Amino acid sequence: MLIDTVKEQFSDEHYQKIRNVLNPREIDYVISHHSEPDHSESLSKVLDYASNAQLITTEKGRNFLSRMYRSNLPFYTIKDTDEISLGKSTLTFIEAPMLHWPETMMSFLSAENILFSCDLFGTQIADPRLYADLNPHIMDYAKRYFALIFRPLSKAVLNGLEKLSKLSIKTIAPSHGPLWRMNTSEIIDSYRRWCTTPDRRKVVILYASIWGGTKRMGEGIAESLTKSNIEVKIYDLTTLAWPQWGHLMTDFMEAGAIAFGSHTFLGQPFPNIHVALTLLKAINPKGKPVILYGTYGWVGGALKVIAEELKKMNMEVIEPPLEVQFIPSSEDMKKCHEIGEKLAKKIKDKMEVEK
Ligand code: FEO
Repeated sequence: MLIDTVKEQFSDEHYQKIRNVLNPREIDYVISHHSEPDHSESLSKVLDYASNAQLITTEKGRNFLSRMYRSNLPFYTIKDTDEISLGKSTLTFIEAPMLHWPETMMSFLSAENILFSCDLFGTQIADPRLYADLNPHIMDYAKRYFALIFRPLSKAVLNGLEKLSKLSIKTIAPSHGPLWRMNTSEIIDSYRRWCTTPDRRKVVILYASIWGGTKRMGEGIAESLTKSNIEVKIYDLTTLAWPQWGHLMTDFMEAGAIAFGSHTFLGQPFPNIHVALTLLKAINPKGKPVILYGTYGWVGGALKVIAEELKKMNMEVIEPPLEVQFIPSSEDMKKCHEIGEKLAKKIKDKMEVEK
């Protein structure tokens, strides 16, 4: 059997790797756990050379793959808990809706106790080290992947983990990223923890700042938080590159509070602030305290727009927005320090209550 495929651009390399192991015509089953292109884009090619194979997927998977590629693939649809015999072992299918798409499934190889977990417990790294325990940074990668892909789907993740709790899992083999072979409960427990709100004494300070005034305010807030022994992560959204948005989402997930800064741009926040708000909403930041700061030229307004969005997310704006014309004066910088101190106190008090 073959589980999932690769992006089209890697299909030749994939073919060679399969050829190194067996004649593709000996493959009886190609299993599509997930229709997203990183798993499925080479399916048609694979089924051309694995010409004796059936394509196993869920009913929804069949529907998706038919629309994405072609409807005359050799489908064999399965339901939750269905099994196929592989001789000495049995492969059991586990429907896993929304882990990551509605059609997603996983499978469990009983004799070896291997869970083929699809996207769940995966990472987005290419590393020659096959096993997670060989990479000292693996939990950081796993957490970043979780924040981007699964934190918005936490309810589905908790349902999935409940389903998996009945299995005796020795090895977890995601469809991308290394395999978890030792102490699999560590990554499973981490997923459970990341689904809720693992707030830490950490503040995300972000800003968009064309002329530097808002940046200066953010740095003033950072200084006062650092003095209060609060970890600070600063993001300049004016020039943030795409890969760093994943880091931002991970920090949003873990932050005890957020300091949102923007200058006013045509009566609105800077455009990237809207992207940050969308990502923030996806991690469900309910209850996190927040402060707002920024500069404007002849008329303000950005902070009011941001505050309205944050209130819709049930975040707690703890101070009136600090909006400054042009460049912050020393008096304004003093106020930045003050709101930073108030935010630090708020986090400490909150952590004390939640202990
Ligand atoms: Fe949901 Fe690995 O794609």
